[in-house]
Amino acid sequence: MLDFSVNLAGVTLKNPIVTASGTFANGREISEYYDLSELGAVCVKAITLEPKQGNRPPRIAETASGILNSVGLQNGGLEFFMRNELPNLRRYDTKIIANISGSTIEENCEIAKRLGDSVDLVELNISCPNVKHGGAAFGSDAAVAREITLRVKEQCKVPLIVKLSPNVTDITAIAHAAREGGADALSLINTLLGMKIDVHTRRPVLANNTGGLSGPAIKPVAVRMVWQVARTVGLPVIGMGGVRSGEDAAEFLLAGASAVAVGTANLVTPTAALDVKRGLARYLEERGIRSAAEIIGAVKAY
Ligand code: FUM
Repeated sequence: MLDFSVNLAGVTLKNPIVTASGTFANGREISEYYDLSELGAVCVKAITLEPKQGNRPPRIAETASGILNSVGLQNGGLEFFMRNELPNLRRYDTKIIANISGSTIEENCEIAKRLGDSVDLVELNISCPNVKHGGAAFGSDAAVAREITLRVKEQCKVPLIVKLSPNVTDITAIAHAAREGGADALSLINTLLGMKIDVHTRRPVLANNTGGLSGPAIKPVAVRMVWQVARTVGLPVIGMGGVRSGEDAAEFLLAGASAVAVGTANLVTPTAALDVKRGLARYLEERGIRSAAEIIGAVKAY
């Protein structure tokens, strides 16, 4: 029998597969395709204190092996989430991760405080590349990353995950800063800042000019960063970036991730996260591996 469970900062996930924030909304649409109780955890769309319209369209563009997005954290706000979305999600036997994306330290503290222990984990987003205030501005400077983690952690009643940006010189420096601030876990990577230009109109394809690149194109970068962070920082990691198959998930576990998030693939195939979970179980069983935890960090690096 396969023990598929993993431990993420003291929280047991029944399996290592979670959803990446912003690619799964709050689960309603995808719950029409499969039972969300199949997942280790659901990480919901970014939550801000007040409702947010997001950026001007167009805000999604296809690229070779991925997409660019500049959604701009559109969401219904904290109260809407707690009143309408959380009770629905709580019907499922899965852990809930709330991605909080306030534009100031104070806003993030307030959201964390009001969430209390109504969710299982909080993911502090210091890596959105598409907003003028907050987001990647928090996650590009080690001192700021430490400070915001420290302040939000003080308000958190559940384990705190800090979501890191790949758009930095040294992601391990930011990861260390988050650990010093009291992070219980890290998630990485958020999207890589990119741009696409329509050569006929000479206009950027996204109204925001730039956007975050996700999907299979970024997987090698993500695996490299997970490996670098997991082996040096000493915190559990949720690995993400271009995961489409059980073998992709296994690659992140081998690199040192304790859990693996499926993101852009959800937009292509609604059952992607379930397919990845089943593919990972097959990968483990075919090799006689009895527990998912056994392969975490088991890469035989040179
Ligand atoms: O623009 C967005 O909503 C993206 C958010 C993120 O990448 O964290």
